[in-house]
Order: sequence, then structure tokens, then C-alpha cells
Amino acid sequence: MVETVSKKVTPHDILRKKGSEKIVMVTAYDYPSAELAEKAGVDIVLVGDSGGMVMLGYESTTHVSLDEIMMLCKAVSRGAKKPLLVGDMPFLSYQVSIEEAVRNAGRFVKEGGVDAIKLEGGEEYESTIRAICRAGIPVMGHIGLMPQTAALWSSYKVRGRTADEASKILDDAKAVERAGAFSMVLESMTSEAAQLVTENVRIPTIGIGAGLACDGQVLVYHDLLGLQSKIMPRFVKRYADLSKIVIDAISSYRNDVLTGSFPAEEYSYHMEKEEAARLQALKKKMR
Ligand code: KIV
Repeated sequence: MVETVSKKVTPHDILRKKGSEKIVMVTAYDYPSAELAEKAGVDIVLVGDSGGMVMLGYESTTHVSLDEIMMLCKAVSRGAKKPLLVGDMPFLSYQVSIEEAVRNAGRFVKEGGVDAIKLEGGEEYESTIRAICRAGIPVMGHIGLMPQTAALWSSYKVRGRTADEASKILDDAKAVERAGAFSMVLESMTSEAAQLVTENVRIPTIGIGAGLACDGQVLVYHDLLGLQSKIMPRFVKRYADLSKIVIDAISSYRNDVLTGSFPAEEYSYHMEKEEAARLQALKKKMR
């Protein structure tokens, strides 16, 4: 196990890492996963809207509600104290108006107990990000493939395959930086596009399917641990196959119950001898 960080990670700590140390982010959605991520020594725990899929079974992240994410944030904030906690603003919690975006971002901090929020969008969300930052809430941007709207357009192709597309991604990145974000996620884009962005913004980039040039990396908890049976995108590296371990364990338990070998003596409680004898006597009388 990796040594845990000794003090609370702040957005300034994340900013300082650019160019000197890689940033490690993982998602978590409940108390135990947050505790384990903290023990593993990650810098940032993201309560991603991907929780809508891996925890709640929605087809895409588009369907998860603010209240659902809020519940996940509360659980994570009880489980992890040291990493920077980032809550992911779900679809339509920041798109309707800037005022609503600021109010909802505030809920993440006040009710959810997280330290910062993340939202998807580039140039068109510059004013929204600026307003949330002005309210004092640290913002992590998210550009490239943006799953909330990608699901609606069925457009999951890798971004930044042409020079023009890479240049548009850089425009988005510059807007996110100008607005005051302390970092940004780059999702599903060519390594060339991610490198262009990383070299041309002063805030750290955190990649998922965006190659090695990014200042940090993020993976979804369930993907990293092999807790999902679905086909994974190419960028997912599985560090464990927990599905198999869990299924094997539950199958063994089922087998033990069916054969009567669980609970064995060591898992059972008994009366003191005298009480057992009294009970026997009582039983005789009852016959
Ligand atoms: O919701 C999520 O898990 C994310 C990551 C993929 C960055 O946004």
C-alpha cells in the first residue's frame, strides 16, 4: 500500500504539480471506495457523473440527477479527508442559466462536502466557469469528448484527429483557463491534441484516453478494478479483476449455504452449559 498524503490536498497543490509531478485522480462514489482511494494515496477523488452508470445502472451519464450525485458526494466526503474531492455537475445542472449553475455548484460544497466542482464544456461555458470561480468555488474543466452530450448525439469518436479539430480543442482549453479553472480533464482525444493543450495552458491537464503528455491521469474506479463486465474503451487499463473475485466468493458462500457447511462452529454462538441443560429440561416438559 502506498503511503497516504499527510495534509489535505488543495487546488493550489494541484496547480503547483504542473511540470514537476504527475497528478493521480480516480473516481469514487461511496464511503468504502473513497476510503480505499485515500489509502492508496491518490491526489484527487472525483465523484463522477459516471456514478450514474456504474452505481445506478443508467445507460449514460445524461440521466443522473443532481440529488443522486449529491448523495454520492456526501458518502465520499465521509470516506476520504485528504485527497481533493471534486463533484461532477450533472447534465442540466449548469446549462440552463449562470445563476442556477452557481447555486447548484454551491450545493456541491455546502451539502455534498466536496472541495471543487467539475463541468463539461469549453468556450461556450467560459462565463459559467468564471461565475462559479467568482463565487469562490474551485472549478475543474472537462473538454474533448464530453459524455453528457456525446450520449445524446451518439458521437463517441476520438477527438482531435485533424489539425483543425486539435486547434478547436486548444481554443476550448484556453477559454477554460481564462475563466479561472484550476485544472481540466481531457477526455478521449489523440495524444497530439492533448500534448498541444498541455504545452499551451498553465493549468494542469488530467487525461483519460488522451495519452501520456497530460499532467495527470484519471480512471473510473470500476474500470480500473475490473468491476464491470461491459466492453471497455481501449484507454482503460484494468489493474485487477475484482468481478471474478467477487463472483467466486459469492458462489462459494452460496454453495456452503446449500450444503449446510456455513455457518460452521466457529461462526456460531452457544449458551453456557447450565443454561443449555435447563433448556433441555424445558424442552422435555414441552413434549
Ligand atoms: O464522470 C466521470 O467519471 C468523469 C471522468 C471520466 C473524468 O467525468
